[in-house]
Amino acid sequence: MATAGPVRVRVPAKINLHLGVGPLRDDGYHELNTVYQAISLYDELTARRGDTLSLTMEGEGAGTLALDGTNLIIRAVQALADYARVPAHARLHLKKQIPLAAGLAGGSADAAAALVACDALWGIGLSRDQLAEVAATLGSDVPFLIYGGTALGTGHGETISPVLVRPHSWHWVVAVADGGLATPEVYRELDRLRAGLDGPEPLGSADGLLAALRQKDPTVLAAALGNDLQAAALSLRPALSDLLKAGLAAGACASLVSGSGPTVLFLARDAAHAETLTTEIEASGLCRAAGTAHGPVPGARIL
Ligand code: C5P
Repeated sequence: MATAGPVRVRVPAKINLHLGVGPLRDDGYHELNTVYQAISLYDELTARRGDTLSLTMEGEGAGTLALDGTNLIIRAVQALADYARVPAHARLHLKKQIPLAAGLAGGSADAAAALVACDALWGIGLSRDQLAEVAATLGSDVPFLIYGGTALGTGHGETISPVLVRPHSWHWVVAVADGGLATPEVYRELDRLRAGLDGPEPLGSADGLLAALRQKDPTVLAAALGNDLQAAALSLRPALSDLLKAGLAAGACASLVSGSGPTVLFLARDAAHAETLTTEIEASGLCRAAGTAHGPVPGARIL
């Protein structure tokens, strides 16, 4: 049943505990073998009934992010309306905390939130799997953000299988760098590095990471984290290596570039350790902001 609204949806950011990048395919995507985790850094999208489709926003990126038909939220709403054969009418408002172009899939998260919100607003009642099918037409990370949790991503990242592990929270520090990195450029840089004589070796399978997750020991997980895009992000932003090192010097179990960067993640022993690390990393002056987050958390959900 359709609702008068408003429908409020909260959606998390994602990180990749393992991001294995395979060869470039004919369709312009790289084959991926990744382990996603949804973390407690959220955007919120509110959908109300309207006679047209409109989008307003506040928070991270307000004034910078285009709110027209190029915005992934608008594209998501239109894709859902086409799928369900209903008019794409809604008044949407985004409260954004996830930074733009940061390697945290903020844009993909908002698209996932728009699918969940308009599905409820219009009373369509799609299953998570059906929503994920629409999500896959919008971007590689969007289906994962419909499900959340911890999941294996294959194909170009859009094919999701949940990772079944007994509940355990991991504690992260998320250090946001100044400015963004465009995902396609980072993939292109990896291809360029790999074409050279001393190209970085691909990580390959996620089996080691999946085994480490089951042990629930941050020092074990630390040794298994890996990201093939890290070398490319560092090549484009050499200053990130100082941030990676500063976190380790401050006692983080591991440091890792998030997705295509430039956000850097630090694995902490527990929640208190994450708080201490955040203070030290912020004090280093090497990032724009740092905060704690835990994962896994659920994907896009109605509040
Ligand atoms: O799927 P999404 O729109 O998020 O991808 C953005 C860009 O990142 C793609 O156009 C492509 O250049 C690059 N990409 C890739 N291989 C992937 C995912 C993304 O090359 N598996």
